[in-house]
Amino acid sequence: MSPIKIANTKNEVIDLIKNRWSPRSFSEKDLSLATLETILEAGSWAPSANNTQPWRFIYALRGTPGFEKLLSTLSPGNIPWAKNAAALIATIGIRELPDTQQKNHYYMHDVGMASSFMLLQALDMGVYGHMMAGYSKQHVTELTGLPANEESVSMIALGYIDSPEKLDEPYKTRELTARSRNPLSAIAAHLD
Ligand SMILES: Cc1cc2nc3c(=O)[nH]c(=O)nc-3n(C[C@H](O)[C@H](O)[C@H](O)COP(=O)(O)O)c2cc1C
Repeated sequence: MSPIKIANTKNEVIDLIKNRWSPRSFSEKDLSLATLETILEAGSWAPSANNTQPWRFIYALRGTPGFEKLLSTLSPGNIPWAKNAAALIATIGIRELPDTQQKNHYYMHDVGMASSFMLLQALDMGVYGHMMAGYSKQHVTELTGLPANEESVSMIALGYIDSPEKLDEPYKTRELTARSRNPLSAIAAHLD
């Protein structure tokens, strides 16, 4: 892994978080279904408001018709690299609470929690994930036949990492650029 991508933290953040990043160069190595299911199960163990678990994951492995379907929903800027991913996952949010059919105000939040858990579980097994909002929600809704109370939230590309040299520009430069974050002083405040 390129050392430039390791988070340069002020405090002793755990390696799993420091080492996670969003690559675009994926190798030809396939992802086993067992590995993918482990990643999905990790997502299911994320916390959620009232344990409503307002998520669903629709996945496909590279080389299958399902993969081509999910790939076809991506925006032109994501297809050139995401086509090399070993798997694609469409994350889905369930908008309503199961008992009352009232709006679940936290479904987006909780799908994000599950996505985070999947990314960290994946990395622990040497698999990288790259989240995407650049795709057609409408297209995912149609091709997966989502019911009215379910919403396409994001796409995730997963796979083993490969050399940045494999990529064309502008992706290659992005693969070689250091990651950065706003300083803690800009995002965290102590309340007296
Ligand atoms: C909800 C969400 C949507 C994103 N959409 C895209 C996308 O469509 N295309 C892309 O290349 N990266 C996408 N990203 C990746 C971000 O650009 C990336 O996480 C951010 O630049 C921080 O980089 P890092 O993950 O390597 O730390 C997305 C990330 C998230 C969380």
